Amino acid sequence: MARNVCILGASGSVGESTLKVIRTFPEEFRLRSCSVHSNLAKAEEILKEFQPEFLCISSDSVDRKILGNKQGRTEILYGSGSLCQLVVDPEVETVVTAVVGASGVAPTVEAIRAGKKIGIANKETLVTCGPYINELLKTSDAYLVPVDSEHNALFQLLRNTNRDSVERIVLTASGGPFRKLPVSELPNVTVEQALRHPTWNMGPKITIDSAGMINKGLEVIEAHYLFGFSYEKIGVVIHPQSVAHGIVETKDGASLVYSSYPDMVFPVAHSLFYPDIVPKTLRPHPSTSWGNLEFLEVDPERYPGLALAYEAGIAGGTAPSIFNAANEIAVELFLKGEIRFTQIPDRIREALESIPISHPTDLEGFQEADSRTRNFVLNSRKGKVSQSC
Ligand SMILES: NC(=O)c1ccc[n+]([C@@H]2O[C@H](COP(=O)([O-])OP(=O)(O)OC[C@H]3O[C@@H](n4cnc5c(N)ncnc54)[C@H](OP(=O)(O)O)[C@@H]3O)[C@@H](O)[C@H]2O)c1
Repeated sequence: MARNVCILGASGSVGESTLKVIRTFPEEFRLRSCSVHSNLAKAEEILKEFQPEFLCISSDSVDRKILGNKQGRTEILYGSGSLCQLVVDPEVETVVTAVVGASGVAPTVEAIRAGKKIGIANKETLVTCGPYINELLKTSDAYLVPVDSEHNALFQLLRNTNRDSVERIVLTASGGPFRKLPVSELPNVTVEQALRHPTWNMGPKITIDSAGMINKGLEVIEAHYLFGFSYEKIGVVIHPQSVAHGIVETKDGASLVYSSYPDMVFPVAHSLFYPDIVPKTLRPHPSTSWGNLEFLEVDPERYPGLALAYEAGIAGGTAPSIFNAANEIAVELFLKGEIRFTQIPDRIREALESIPISHPTDLEGFQEADSRTRNFVLNSRKGKVSQSC
């Protein structure tokens, strides 16, 4: 019988990859429910093709009269609270969290409480409140299968490796569109240039995050909470071809490398099938087609956001939540043309230096740090930003 899948954020880039996998394996998976935030055109396409039982429109500013409460067999739900309703549905086997930003936290928490298998793409959940999520996982049958390509690669490598033999885990990064641009020109890059990722086709927020390697910083923190390695054992290398996604360096000096074509269908299919194996070729990637592969050191001057992520991760507690929230607001401001690209790490640094770090054990403590940081960055825009432009 087909396994029921719930996709949070079905209209986005990871959401689309997940629909593609469900389409490729109609015998194995069925779309039971999904959400879009405000993209009604995509919602209508999904309704037509997949006819899920439930579809949630999470934005409060959508006109409810357009889709009403029922479309064919599908019940239409509204508001961000409905995301939690979708994930606790007893018929759902796997929840894929493909929403962007901190909006992933509440439904992931509910999916854990409901004991689901969670294909976790929304890295901001673990970054925002990793210690709380890990404690919660201990109280439930729920488990996480990482969908982020680097973490999925490491998850697969580490399953087959004796943990005592691991010297270091390494995440690869493309280096983004500005890898070769003179550092002095970075303040003048446009939104359009920053959105032109050289190898991956992704949503706008993660594409901007990738251009400054802040995405890699979020991933380092995510890897810490997923795999439990200390920060000095989590490395990053630039690998512009994006075919090697994760590397496990072992104590004997060897490196185990996971490689695939840079397409999210690989980690998504792995997470949906897990613990079973993906039974057919998704996209051939013979080693003869790899070409020359480069693995390069990260230039800290070009990517200051990465070092800030390590600092926040090592500080622990609410520091990663502050890092994440400051970044989310700064990216929004950059996309609106209100700050420069190089001011994104500036805003994060200011927030980390100004907001006290605490070590809460409840979700509210992490959420408080998140909302305090958002206000801080939004308010600082009015004063300091225009001066440093
Ligand atoms: N793209 C990748 O290759 C990739 C790889 C690894 C990890 N990730 C992670 O996966 C997550 C999704 O990334 P993406 O690139 O797929 O993003 P995306 O293309 O921008 O899609 C985001 C999805 O979230 C929905 N959404 C937007 N704002 C929301 C809100 N406030 N509440 C609830 N839903 C909201 C969007 O709905 P509308 O379309 O209706 O606005 C859309 O379905 C991110 O955490 C990202 O870091 C992505």
